Amino acid sequence: MNPQVLPSILLLISAAHAFHYTDLAQYVDSHQDEYVEMLRDWVAIESDSSNVQKRPELHRMMETVAQKLRLMGGTVQLVDIGEQELPDGQTLELPKVVTAQFGNVSSKHTVCIYGHVDVQPAKLEDGWATDPYNLTEINGNLYGRGASDNKAPVLAWIHAVEAYQALSMDLPVNVKFVIEGMEETGSNGLDAMIMAQRDTFFSEVDYIIISDCGWLSRRPSLTYGTRGNCYFFAEVEGPEQDLHSGVYGGTVIEPMTDLIGILDTLISPSGKILIPGIREAVAPLSDEEWKMYQDIQFDMDNYKNKIGVNQLMYSNKVDLLAHMWRYPTVSIHGIEGAFSDPGTKTVIPAKVTAKFSIRQVPDMDPAMVKKQVTDYLHSVFAKRRSPNKLKVTMVIGAKPWLADTHHPLYEAGKAAIKRVFNTDPDLIREGGTIPIARTFQDVTGKSIIMMPIGGFDDGLHSQNEKMSRYNYIEGTKLFIAYLNEVSQIKRTSV
Ligand SMILES: *[C@@H]1O[C@H](CO)[C@@H](O)[C@H](O)[C@H]1NC(C)=O
Ligand SMILES: *[C@@H]1O[C@H](CO)[C@@H](O)[C@H](O)[C@H]1NC(C)=O
Ligand SMILES: [Zn+2]
Repeated sequence: MNPQVLPSILLLISAAHAFHYTDLAQYVDSHQDEYVEMLRDWVAIESDSSNVQKRPELHRMMETVAQKLRLMGGTVQLVDIGEQELPDGQTLELPKVVTAQFGNVSSKHTVCIYGHVDVQPAKLEDGWATDPYNLTEINGNLYGRGASDNKAPVLAWIHAVEAYQALSMDLPVNVKFVIEGMEETGSNGLDAMIMAQRDTFFSEVDYIIISDCGWLSRRPSLTYGTRGNCYFFAEVEGPEQDLHSGVYGGTVIEPMTDLIGILDTLISPSGKILIPGIREAVAPLSDEEWKMYQDIQFDMDNYKNKIGVNQLMYSNKVDLLAHMWRYPTVSIHGIEGAFSDPGTKTVIPAKVTAKFSIRQVPDMDPAMVKKQVTDYLHSVFAKRRSPNKLKVTMVIGAKPWLADTHHPLYEAGKAAIKRVFNTDPDLIREGGTIPIARTFQDVTGKSIIMMPIGGFDDGLHSQNEKMSRYNYIEGTKLFIAYLNEVSQIKRTSV
């Protein structure tokens, strides 16, 4: 071999294995306008999963994602997950799930990135300042439906892989993607797909990464828990048909009065759940947790302003955060069957159905909660000695999810955040439910991390949703740094 070639080959080999963060970060900075253009193309596709008229757009969105990953040299599949049944009995093809794989080196860890590219509905008339499907940059913010939830985070992961490729650096870990198109309407078909591929696509996966949530403040966050949800219907049925209150009022025991009577026994005005056994099941707040909440940047006044109230259930930060994330609560959502048109019709409804839900936290168990709620409401109802009939059903029972913040996956996250943002993260939970995290955990048995890059004020699901250019670009760098940190995790600690 020509002796002059050898050193340059050695240099190439070492370049392929070393992690040059600064080069990668520079590459990202110099390509940011392309990244914004790609986000513009994705936002322009109206991939609204709740609107059946938009289903062709949703199919086009999944094809666009697959094509992008194919062009990058990934092993890509569009997985058929069947059909969806509509209320009118018709069926509609579900958007395929995109899976992809980059790298297949058995000595490396394999991460699987989950994301979704469907969006909530949006119309200019809803009160958007700009066309929701025409990405518009104003003062460093990129406004558009799905920009933050969840198109830019999915793209940021793709750009992270692209940056390694562009600089001919080996990916420090094998990277898989699972991108779906039904998240906003309950991930129809995804559970079955994960179950079916448990021993194939998911068998070599070590860690699952979800970036489908946001920070709590201007400081980056790592999310380590989400609440579950048990959703109930309580139906009270009385007379055979609706009655006129002038004619029958005073003679019948009204279903609505019964229903409101029992609903009022679920939770006290100060937020205490009155159903026996629920509070007892909740894991106690540890000193370490208390301290974590104390350290979180959170502005109570901002929070009040954002939701337009002048008083909250709790007046100090730790209590408020704890009740947002790690205690259960009861919310009453509505009553069906009640007269709800404007005006003063004097009807006594014959049958009314209340809808309420209880957010779930460790160590509550939905099966137990179902029994506790049903038994309790029947006992309260029995005391009323009403001749009406009560029926309680639980229609959703989603478990909470909680990770260990000292797991190597989280330590790697803290290190990556330190490198890119030069700060420690807020360690936070989500009050809402991301059922897919729990499914991944239960079905695959793999460890999961939630690593958001969305801002605290991105307006997910509401008007003027945005992603800041800063979060998009620095978030891409975070993902680049994170892949390297994950590669350092010792095999024994998997
Ligand atoms: C990865 O390697 C394994 C083991 O050699 C093989 O079974 C699998 O098909 C490969 N996957 C891809 C996407 O190349
Ligand atoms: C998006 O908005 C810009 C700025 O208002 C406008 O110039 C452009 O034509 C719009 N694009 C589409 C596809 O509507
Ligand atoms: Zn989302």
